[in-house]
Amino acid sequence: MRDQKQRKAEFGDFQTPISLAREVCSLIARTGFCPASILEPTCGTGSFLKASLETFPEVSRVVGFEINPQYVMQAQHAVARTFPHTSVEVHQSDFFLTSWSEIVEALPEPILVIGNPPWVTNAALSTWGSNNLPMKSNLDNLLGIDALTGKSNFDISEWMLRKNLEWLNARNGLLAMLCKTTVARKVLLYAWQNRLRIESASVYILSAKEYFRASVDACLLLVQSNPTGNSKECQVFRSLHAQRPDSVFGLQDGLLVADVKSYLQWKDLTGTGFRGWRSGIKHDCSNVFELRVERGNLVNGIGEFVDIEKEVLFPLLKGSDLEAHKQPHRWMLVPQKNLNDDPSYLKDRAPKAWKYLTEHAELLDQRKSSIYRKRPRFSVFGVGSYSFSPWKIAIAALYKQLNFVKVSPFGETPVVLDDTCYFLPCQFEEECDLFYELVNSEPAQQFWLSLIFWDTKRPITAELLNLLDLTALARLLGKESELLKFSHSAVAYGNTKAGDKQLVN
Ligand SMILES: C[S@@+](CC[C@H](N)C(=O)[O-])C[C@H]1O[C@@H](n2cnc3c(N)ncnc32)[C@H](O)[C@@H]1O
Repeated sequence: MRDQKQRKAEFGDFQTPISLAREVCSLIARTGFCPASILEPTCGTGSFLKASLETFPEVSRVVGFEINPQYVMQAQHAVARTFPHTSVEVHQSDFFLTSWSEIVEALPEPILVIGNPPWVTNAALSTWGSNNLPMKSNLDNLLGIDALTGKSNFDISEWMLRKNLEWLNARNGLLAMLCKTTVARKVLLYAWQNRLRIESASVYILSAKEYFRASVDACLLLVQSNPTGNSKECQVFRSLHAQRPDSVFGLQDGLLVADVKSYLQWKDLTGTGFRGWRSGIKHDCSNVFELRVERGNLVNGIGEFVDIEKEVLFPLLKGSDLEAHKQPHRWMLVPQKNLNDDPSYLKDRAPKAWKYLTEHAELLDQRKSSIYRKRPRFSVFGVGSYSFSPWKIAIAALYKQLNFVKVSPFGETPVVLDDTCYFLPCQFEEECDLFYELVNSEPAQQFWLSLIFWDTKRPITAELLNLLDLTALARLLGKESELLKFSHSAVAYGNTKAGDKQLVN
């Protein structure tokens, strides 16, 4: 039973209900597209083959492919019974081993490439030891691109959809595929960056819970191609039945922006001036580094009393605390003042803290992230003078709101944040108040909202926040001279140009 479940997951095996396939096909018909041929590259039991034949009975060729031989038989049976006079071919084949160029070349235009590719990630496949993946060389190619954008995990549907769009490049065709919304965006970004000939694109949000009992943001991706297409925008419809788009995302100035219209209105706020957003401290071992107070005693995550020097202890706020507007109720042991410090200096400076860390070395050495491997033992990341600034403007990275919080010192001690937060370090309360006003201003909010895709796991990042030039914003709001008063603070925390990295969500 478990094996069957795993096999289903490994092959991203969620068959589309025929009702949904029919809705998709009637939407395609409403757009005016009328295919001469239909191709479904991973057709499963054939819902889309059947629904598309019902909707476009005049089509001259229909071909389906599927890896699972039982499904191939089911699909053949499903279409043969309903359309005894149409020639429909269903073949058993592995997507990654199929010679697609010959197959697609032989299809008459306009071509409809339709379906629902497997929803599974390479990370999940590797934990199961599965090889349902592109060949290694092709994979390296994909990861090469992803490495540039800082992403190494990918959905195999993303790979397949890229290929689907390449087949349709410079041909008259329509891609109509169900996929995760994040995958749809990445695939479009790939197509736009690679100048594939796209006439128009749209996504229609749908409830994966309703159709597949999966809790993930899902959509129907429609991409119309033709030899002269040059579009780099995508309309977003709230549902399969929506008449008008809610927004348009697209590629602008090399950035993937969530709301093109709004971005164009506020894009002058991007710049190379003052940007100082930082990530909170990353330690990956809350059981050791995070302490709570119980009846006047410090207690760690495994329930032990802890006695260490005050100078390494800082009141802590996490993203969830920021969202709930809580005061610090935990402490963090911070073993460095700067990224390059070796925590072993604590031997002399804070011997009790050093003893505590060495006694918990086993837990600390187990930290999985590769970033710790080349660092001195017990190191943490995202630490610098800015971590200890007395005042901060902070925001939770994982929450779906643009909510900034003014963080004041706790007593005399600066509050530190963990890596579920981003923050702007400030030396003075007056400076913090100015930034609070700036980041909550209409232009700043509209600028960031034009860039944020709320359905991503971490919608807010330092990279995204740093796209806004605070000097340009202050100028727009007539606050430039006030901002200038705090330029020495900016220098102290290294709040200079953050580097023009590509923003991809
Ligand atoms: C999400 S299901 C969708 C099936 C069908 N397209 C539908 O809409 O009902 C994905 C399908 O991809 C098939 N599949 C998975 N890996 C494949 C591969 N490497 N080559 C061909 N088909 C594959 C699975 O067996 C499964 O039937």
